Amino acid sequence: MKVLITGGTGYIGSHTSVELINKGIDVVIVDNLSNSDFEVVNRIERITGVRPAFYKTDICSRSELFRVFENEKIDSVIHFAALKSISESVEKPLLYYENNVTGTMNVCEAMKRFNVKKIVLSSSAAVYGLTGNNPLKEEAPLFPYNPYGRTKMIQEHIVSDFAESESFGAVILRYFNPIGAHESGLIGENPKGKPSNLMPYISQVAAGRLEKLFVFGSDYKTPDGTGVRDYIHVSDLARGHLQALIKLENNTGVFTYNIGSGRGHSVLDMIKSFEKASGRKIAFELAERRPGDVDMCYADSSLAEKELDWKAECSIDKMCADEWRWQKLNPNGYE
Ligand SMILES: NC(=O)c1ccc[n+]([C@@H]2O[C@H](COP(=O)([O-])OP(=O)(O)OC[C@H]3O[C@@H](n4cnc5c(N)ncnc54)[C@H](O)[C@@H]3O)[C@@H](O)[C@H]2O)c1
Repeated sequence: MKVLITGGTGYIGSHTSVELINKGIDVVIVDNLSNSDFEVVNRIERITGVRPAFYKTDICSRSELFRVFENEKIDSVIHFAALKSISESVEKPLLYYENNVTGTMNVCEAMKRFNVKKIVLSSSAAVYGLTGNNPLKEEAPLFPYNPYGRTKMIQEHIVSDFAESESFGAVILRYFNPIGAHESGLIGENPKGKPSNLMPYISQVAAGRLEKLFVFGSDYKTPDGTGVRDYIHVSDLARGHLQALIKLENNTGVFTYNIGSGRGHSVLDMIKSFEKASGRKIAFELAERRPGDVDMCYADSSLAEKELDWKAECSIDKMCADEWRWQKLNPNGYE
């Protein structure tokens, strides 16, 4: 089987590439490197012993993307490539719609043209917005409250409508909060600029690259007042994509799953676990809530467990230990 992975040098895409290659699947990566490094291809090869095909290609260029499909006989697509910063999406909404929506349209066009009938799409808990009750089930209303979340919801609609019309198979995975890194310490999350997610921020404070963490909101209705989220090891998440491909072997139609651990942890819990993993003190300051943040968000992933035979396995302590190993071994990212 040959799988095209858009965004395959990114954080989740690189871990998924490793997972697939280790199962003997041929991987073709397409990435414009806007938020990742070419060095990731070398690291994937070091971990797996296999070098994936790599195309430095922007999926917003339909002709460039078609060329990749012409060169490779693709069986399935896993579509990760997207911009993902909520705050940047508020500042530059058109950039987000252009990249995430046009990119997805082009991926679907290429699939139609080259008769590829299986896709796994990266979606996000951000599609639920502020309205759902925890634990969130897949049928909760979709009401994203920022441009990024809206692009994810639109991607879901495009892929679902297209899959229905062409009678092919689509699995939509709504990720909660992926953290951690491959246990080799060779690949991990490497945000360009100041991190906007909690874990890379904490690990950069531990490493002395950032002075302190700002904890946004300490008066939420949660046990310690700080926001509660559902964290999931990126390698567990990568395994979810393999299970999604297996699901598509014998099924057409559209299937949507939450991919989370089903457990909530507060920001202060995460700081404590990271201090334990790293043996370092994390300096932090309590700050005002950020507009649009929810007090709590965690998944009901029982549908994925039942239909994909997938379940999150790693503990928070392992997530923090792996994140710290990655940070320690790569103090300047992939440089
Ligand atoms: N990391 C999270 O917390 C999280 C949570 C929920 C959903 N997601 C979704 O998962 C997917 C992967 O996220 P990630 O954390 O690995 O992000 P990432 O930024 O590390 O990876 C995305 C990759 O896509 C590439 N890319 C972006 N636009 C492109 C384009 N037009 N053409 C080609 N390549 C392009 C980037 O260079 C990058 O390598 C995204 O769709 C994101 O929305 C991420």
